[in-house]
Amino acid sequence: MSGRTPPASGRPGRVAGCVALITGAARGQGRSHAVRLAREGADIIGVDLCADIEGVPYPLATPADLDETARLVEEAGARVVTGRADVRDPSALDAVVADGVARLGRLDVVVANAGVCTIQRWDEVTPPVWDAVIGTNLTGAWNTCVASIPHLLEAGAGSIILISSTAGLKGQPFLAPYVASKHGMVGVMRVLANELAAHSIRVNSIHPTGVDTPMLVGLGGLTERIEASPDTGSIFLNSLPVDVVSSEDVSDALVYLASAESRYVTGLPLTVDAGASAR
Ligand SMILES: NC(=O)c1ccc[n+]([C@@H]2O[C@H](COP(=O)([O-])OP(=O)(O)OC[C@H]3O[C@@H](n4cnc5c(N)ncnc54)[C@H](O)[C@@H]3O)[C@@H](O)[C@H]2O)c1
Repeated sequence: MSGRTPPASGRPGRVAGCVALITGAARGQGRSHAVRLAREGADIIGVDLCADIEGVPYPLATPADLDETARLVEEAGARVVTGRADVRDPSALDAVVADGVARLGRLDVVVANAGVCTIQRWDEVTPPVWDAVIGTNLTGAWNTCVASIPHLLEAGAGSIILISSTAGLKGQPFLAPYVASKHGMVGVMRVLANELAAHSIRVNSIHPTGVDTPMLVGLGGLTERIEASPDTGSIFLNSLPVDVVSSEDVSDALVYLASAESRYVTGLPLTVDAGASAR
């Protein structure tokens, strides 16, 4: 949050009184961000598809996962509105965001987190896989911004955070549509940072290295690719002595960008990558 002070929620915290929208909220990093922002005083609008996508080689979240996020948010003392929507579908997203804002009263923080990943060499990427990954990660993030910005303008300020990746900064092999989508999110972030600055709406991106979530567990196949092309292995290495970070590590960075602590930070690609992008 930046600019105008949100109303007191009665709960203390670094984003007290804010309402935060999170896509991909049913599990993984999205759940962690929802719970963490709730503990820091925000109310939550949690959106997820809760269904699988053809071409994505691992199961996505379920309705029970989204219910569990809602339970954890309420346990933290926050109000929560959940909705099922595909971020690729602008009308569905508009409706679920409008419903959440109507019920919780405002919108201050937007986290475009929903994402999918596939592993293929360039000549194995099929058109449906390209569309699924670009559609969810890049177009979905754009749709999330477009559905949210009118509500942030109404609030008089806001913080938009796009969850990109190390793949948004490096040309990691075997991840062509994913890398393209995550680089594209940086472009969206920079344009919106410029277009919305006059309205005290800040726009930043977060770039995690591998994070210990169902996506990483479900993906598989990368080790075999690297073994077959050993020269590519070093591109994926972190510098600090850790293989993967946790969702909570990413939430730490997210709370900073969501809160007034970063009130003069906009247009920033913030890494949580154990030094991977510096290599
Ligand atoms: N796990 C990693 O190693 C890693 C690293 C860097 C960045 N990221 C990014 O972090 C974000 C969160 O991923 P995660 O690791 O928590 O994975 P995850 O698979 O555990 O969670 C992703 C969530 O997004 C939802 N989702 C997927 N497609 C959707 C759609 N079209 N509409 C609405 N919801 C949809 C899924 O149901 C799921 O709940 C993603 O953008 C991902 O690309 C992940």
